[in-house]
Order: sequence, then C-alpha cells, then structure tokens
Amino acid sequence: MYLGIDVGTSAVKALLIDEHSATVAETDIPLSVSNPHPFWSEQNPDDWWDATLRAIDALHHQNPGAVAATRAIGLSGQMHGATLLDENDKPLRPAILWNDGRAKAECDKLDAMLPDLGTRAGVATMPGMTAPKMLWLQKHEPDIFAKVRTILLPKDYIRFCLSGDKVTEMSDAAGTLWLEEESRSWNRAAIDACGLSMDQIPELVEGSDITGTLRAELVKRWGMKGDVIIAGGGGDAATGGIGVGAVSHGDGFISLGTSSQIFVASDKYRPKPEELLHSFTHAIPAHWFQMAVLLNGASCLQWAAKLLGESDIGGLLKRVEAQHHKPADIVFLPYLNGERTPHNNPYARGVFFGLGSDTSREAMVQSVLEGVAFALSDAQSRLHAAGTRCALPGVIGGGARSRYWIQLISDIMGTPLARYEGAAKGPAFGAARLARLALTQEAVEDVCLKPVIEEIIEPDTSRHASYQPRFAKFRRLYNALADEFT
Ligand code: XUL
Repeated sequence: MYLGIDVGTSAVKALLIDEHSATVAETDIPLSVSNPHPFWSEQNPDDWWDATLRAIDALHHQNPGAVAATRAIGLSGQMHGATLLDENDKPLRPAILWNDGRAKAECDKLDAMLPDLGTRAGVATMPGMTAPKMLWLQKHEPDIFAKVRTILLPKDYIRFCLSGDKVTEMSDAAGTLWLEEESRSWNRAAIDACGLSMDQIPELVEGSDITGTLRAELVKRWGMKGDVIIAGGGGDAATGGIGVGAVSHGDGFISLGTSSQIFVASDKYRPKPEELLHSFTHAIPAHWFQMAVLLNGASCLQWAAKLLGESDIGGLLKRVEAQHHKPADIVFLPYLNGERTPHNNPYARGVFFGLGSDTSREAMVQSVLEGVAFALSDAQSRLHAAGTRCALPGVIGGGARSRYWIQLISDIMGTPLARYEGAAKGPAFGAARLARLALTQEAVEDVCLKPVIEEIIEPDTSRHASYQPRFAKFRRLYNALADEFT
C-alpha cells in the first residue's frame, strides 16, 4: 500500500492505493483560511498537522489492515507558502499562503536587485511566491525575521512532523523564486537578496527520491511494520500531473479547484515569464512543465452559492443549465483572490457588471461559470503565445464534477476537453504514485499511466462564436478597471 497526503488549502486529503494503483481508502479533513487584513491569506501550520493526523487516523479507522500495510508515503501540497520555524523548530507565525497579496512592493524590489530572476526562476516575481514574502517579513516583522531558523513549504512542514527531516523537492522549490529551474539547484544570489543564508533553506531532492522514514511512534500508532519511507513528493500542480500521467512533452490538464491551472508537461526548461506563465521543474527527474495559474476556480462557484444561500450546488447547477439559452447578460470578473496569469495583479477583485432589476440568481451563477471560463481562455492564449499546446487536456478538481460547466468551458475556450472515468485523480493520488516510485524505482512510464477517458467533450462551434463578443467585453472590462484595483 502507498499513502498519498495532499496538504491543500481547503482540506488535507489522505488516500491509500494498492499495488495495482486502485484507491483503497480516502478521506478529507477540512481546513479554513484566515484573512486578518485585506490581501492577507494565512493558515496555522499546526492545523495542517492536526488535520493530517486526523486524516490518517480516519483511514486507519476505515481500514486498519490497509493502513498497516503502508510501505511508503508521498506528500503533495499547496505551493509557495512560507512556513517559518524558530530554533526549536516551532512555527513562529501563521504561514503566508500562495494567494496572499501583501508583498507587491517587495516584488518590485527583487526585480530591481535581480533583473534576470524571471528567466532563471521560471516565473515573473509575484507576491504569491515565497521570496518576496521573506522581504516583506524582514521589513514589517523584523523581530520574527531575526528568529527564523528554517523556512519550509507547507507539505515539507508535514514531512518534518512525520519524519524529522528538513527537505524539499524540485517541484515545490520551483515556486519559491530561489530555484534555478534549468540546473535544478538553489540560486544562492536570490536567497542572499532576501537576507537569508543557505542554512535556513532545506535540502533539495527529486520528488521520487526517498527523504527519510516515518517516526517510530507514528509507525506504532497506525500499526505499520518496519521502515515506512517518505518520498519527496511534489507541489500540488506537479502531483496533479503525476496523478493523470502528464509527464511526456505536451501532456496536460486543467485543474478546477480552489485555484485553477492549465498545466502542460515539457521535455525541457522553457521560461516565458513575459507571458506570466510558470515554467517549473516537474516532480520526476529531467522533466519540466509550463503552467498558467489562476488564483480563482471552482471556489468562485462555492462563494456565489454561499452568498445566495444555496446549499445544494448540484441542484443550483441544474437550474442554471435549464435556463441557459445564450451568454448571460451580465459579465463576472472572477478575481476574488487577485490574479496571476495573465494579469499579475494581487489587488484585482471580483466584479459583476450589468446587473438589472430583472437579474435572476441563476443568471448571476451562469455569469460566474462563464467568468471562470473566460479567465481560462485568457490563460490559454498566453500558453499559445508561448508556442505551447496541449492536445487533449483532461479536467480534474472539484469543478470537474459538472459536465455542464466543462461543456461551457470547452465552448468558450474552443478546445476539446476530456472527462476521466471514476473519481478525478487528484494530487493525493499523484503523491501516492511518487511514494511507489521512490520505493520500487520502477520506470516512470510504468507507474504514471493516464486515466481512462470517459468522454471527450467537443466545443460547439456556434456557441464558441456566440461567446466571442462577450469574451472581448470581459477583457475590455478588466482593462478599464485595472487601475481602479488598489
Ligand atoms: C500554483 C499555486 C496554486 C496552489 C494551490 O502556483 O499557487 O495552485 O498551489 O494549492
């Protein structure tokens, strides 16, 4: 058995697969995010650890024999978060997350100090990345900055709790701005520019390497036997890719979760910071990927449903679909958490444009679904501008449950999309595969198989055409408002 743990933003997921990669047991323990100031987004690292223990305890309760047979654990996690430990390895403050927008001024400072950072780190400087957060801390919380002994990414804090090892791996290190993506090594100049030294930065391995073994008391707690190894694992984008077998050049997928990504695997490092793409090291050796990252996704639908007092999202979507005959009259800009690709604007916010006294709640929700699809279309155009194409992306994440939404996204993007059979294979599944790779050293192509495609959704050409004027308006509205977001 192989255990995958994904330290997400809305939940910690734990999933157990057997030797045939069949899912044997899975569970989610929800997490919440705190926003103590505008543009801030934080979580307490010990809440991740508490949720991880509860998740594995719950799996153990469901299926003690399967958990006891675990031979290797793989980790996945939300990327970019700064988890700061003191000299006793205790968190010094809440972790600053991937969708935190406070460090914009520090991005400008880094750009001035290191003009070629984007080409070396694979992405333009953006406040969500780890490096500008440390410059922010140095300026605004100098007492805490002075006490930082170790900086870890979220899943690597869980690794530390599981095994006592301070290690990260390429695909998560990729999102710090401190990695030289091409040579797969730390960029000392970038670390130095943040007032940090190498002894504060974890050791670096590949995602399919072994980083240590599970602590003896945890082995005992879950009835396991012998050494249970921990694999490097990956940032959630890369583990999502491993989960759907997106490893060869041109393989890709769209993830529609709290955030969304369009991910395309690459045979070499192809930086395109000017397109606001993320060109990162993959979680397996000698592989890279390019990715457009949207800070908003299925979370917009959840937000709208909650605000409208709709607890049954499935029922709501059925009503929206029934009244959907043409593009909604209102336009929704989905930037509830700011945006990376294609705007790099942490201050952007959501907008409903064109509300009337006759606007129905169904029309508002339709515009939310369309707004996310327009944002994906915008992101896709940046990948196309970089010369990157993905033949048939599959859709994973919570949003993949709605066939209606995937059809709408396909129509608006003008791109065929695949729906996978069974439960969407998410990052925790990819993490479990990395656990297997680390233990068995099998060939990547034997383990990272693609899921069976249940259906290929083709774009409807007349609907695609009917959405183009609305897409142009969506872009004009953002451009008109861009300077108003502060
Ligand atoms: C990727 C990113 C997000 C988080 C979500 O660059 O910031 O997708 O990893 O967990």
